[in-house]
Amino acid sequence: MKVLHIGGTGFLGSYIVKKLIERSHEVTIITRNPDNEMPFDKSKVKFLKGDILELDKIDVSDKFDVLVYTAMVPFKPGRISTKKFNELEIITRQYFQNTIDFAIRQSCPLILTSGASFETKGDEIADESWQVARKGMAALGKCYDEIIPNIKSKNSIPLIEMLPAQIYGNGGMFDKMINMAKNNKIVILGGGKNYLQRIHVDDCADAFVLAIEKLPIGKRFIISDDESVRVKDFMLQLARLFGAKKIRNIPKPILRIVIGKHIFNTLTMNTKVSNEFIKKELCWKPKYSSYREGLKTLT
Ligand SMILES: NC(=O)c1ccc[n+]([C@@H]2O[C@H](COP(=O)([O-])OP(=O)(O)OC[C@H]3O[C@@H](n4cnc5c(N)ncnc54)[C@H](OP(=O)(O)O)[C@@H]3O)[C@@H](O)[C@H]2O)c1
Repeated sequence: MKVLHIGGTGFLGSYIVKKLIERSHEVTIITRNPDNEMPFDKSKVKFLKGDILELDKIDVSDKFDVLVYTAMVPFKPGRISTKKFNELEIITRQYFQNTIDFAIRQSCPLILTSGASFETKGDEIADESWQVARKGMAALGKCYDEIIPNIKSKNSIPLIEMLPAQIYGNGGMFDKMINMAKNNKIVILGGGKNYLQRIHVDDCADAFVLAIEKLPIGKRFIISDDESVRVKDFMLQLARLFGAKKIRNIPKPILRIVIGKHIFNTLTMNTKVSNEFIKKELCWKPKYSSYREGLKTLT
């Protein structure tokens, strides 16, 4: 298949690209920096230099079978002020809207990525019929809830929605967590009693490849492993695997002051989700059914 990929140089994106190359698909990546080093064989993909904020300036002569979006608005880890949050929200809207307009111009299906940000209580388990909780950093994507229903009601593009859980693996921002464990600097934020669902980057990329090859138009998929885990247990396991002995806990009241309410609300939200739909619909199955097996693959 001829795949056009925005975000193909990123953490998740580069795993998807590697798999697409292995399966002999033709991949073209839109990137701001085609000269950068990349974790896949650059000679096996084509590049179009460009920015999501200026997609109309990119000259695309080829016709593609699908446009995949796994990009993310860049922001530095740490405290996010409300002013910064408002700026990021405007850019996030532009990223989604420009990508959708671009897919309409290319007249090809769009695989759009956001996140499995569902707020569950007690034994509740969210599935694809749930409304995304626009809380914490997920509130950056509020525009998504206006733009997407509009597209669906007008049938303006063939759309597939991918909602990954928290992605872990070697690469991207997660390498910072691994380095913290290696350097004995693991921190549990706010007690870590809340549940968060996780997915190994390799399993997540497999789900995308299946979606690309099967093009299940109109479907929305939560991509998660089989087990919800408390933040604390995940971090302790990571610490154990890399021999970190000293584990600090930052209590919630201090944490909120240090990182601001947006990141605080993200880190302390409780999420349990079901992966039954993607298993049934795409015949996908995670190789790493839980963080216990998945974390062992990290180097
Ligand atoms: N990581 C997670 O735990 C997680 C969890 C749930 C959902 N998600 C979603 O999964 C997707 C992938 O996440 P990730 O962690 O892999 O993201 P990431 O590593 O931060 O990916 C960044 C990618 O976005 C591209 N990008 C950013 N701004 C751009 C711009 N202005 N123009 C062109 N390209 C731009 C970058 O391309 P260049 O720098 O090469 O231009 C890069 O390929 C995102 O949609 C994210 O919301 C991630």
